[in-house]
Amino acid sequence: MKDLLRTAHLSREDVDLLLDTAAAFATNPLRSRDALANRSVAIYMTKPSTRTRLASETAVAHLGGTPIFLRGDDLQIGRGETIADTARVVSGFCSALLIRTFDQSDVDELGAHASIPVINGLTDLDHPTQLLADWATIREVFGNDIAGRKFTYVGDGNNMAHAWLAMGAILGAHVVVSSPTGKLAPDHDAIATARAIAETTGGKIEIDHDPENAAKGSSVLYTDVWMSMGDPESERTEKLAALAPYQINDHLMGLAEKDAIFMHCLPAHRGEEVTASVIDGPRSHIWREAFHRRTTIQAIMYHLVRGELTGRT
Ligand code: CP
Ligand code: NVA
Repeated sequence: MKDLLRTAHLSREDVDLLLDTAAAFATNPLRSRDALANRSVAIYMTKPSTRTRLASETAVAHLGGTPIFLRGDDLQIGRGETIADTARVVSGFCSALLIRTFDQSDVDELGAHASIPVINGLTDLDHPTQLLADWATIREVFGNDIAGRKFTYVGDGNNMAHAWLAMGAILGAHVVVSSPTGKLAPDHDAIATARAIAETTGGKIEIDHDPENAAKGSSVLYTDVWMSMGDPESERTEKLAALAPYQINDHLMGLAEKDAIFMHCLPAHRGEEVTASVIDGPRSHIWREAFHRRTTIQAIMYHLVRGELTGRT
């Protein structure tokens, strides 16, 4: 597999390899400090980012390379240069490209035309690098034996919900997404893809519109912002009202398992998708999760540049 374009493209073996390598980078960040020596990695973002940008730039530096950060309108792509031409040019200068943007199809097209690895650093559809940090966190807390556990995402059926379903399916986990019905529910194709993968891995994919029922017996309660980057401001009032029953608060945490943890990809909006009592409370693992972004992105870059990921066949 040349690129990491979508969470669902990863194989179970890829995820295990990436998480093992990430753990090694957590112990010794500089263990492969020559892997990108004298090479550059482009990081191109048309949306804001705190964690993914910092994680990517520090990951490249720890691998001995030079990160080149490009903001949306820095490139001629904003003035009509085609994605294909951009992909060819970046491939001539850099050893990999991490991109954060709106349309998944733009990222897919870049991957198709670039000769270097292209990494999806978030689109409206997916957020694959985040899920590796999430599962690095989950494995640290619960170990590899996840049989009988339920991993539940509560909130907007957005890019994070799609990635949550796909990664859970790859790992053979019982994953749940609890969101409103209708346009705030996860994409049909994302659910179908996760279900198809789960059939081969023993995973279980559940869509449960009742947040209390979804929280019951869960080992993880996960959420994400209610207004994602690019969501129209005109829809804020309606969207927040529809999502109000899906807030993760002390009552919902109380329905989960006794040892359940709270997770959030961040940035967070206390008082909307989660209360301060939960996100800043003892069951919250958000900082550990955030710092795994660097080790996991470092692992992704390391193995992709070496051509060591197989992808799901
Ligand atoms: N979780 C995440 O992707 O954070 P940023 O938007 O800050 O990169
Ligand atoms: N759903 C959020 C995720 C941020 C990491 C967004 O797309 O803005």
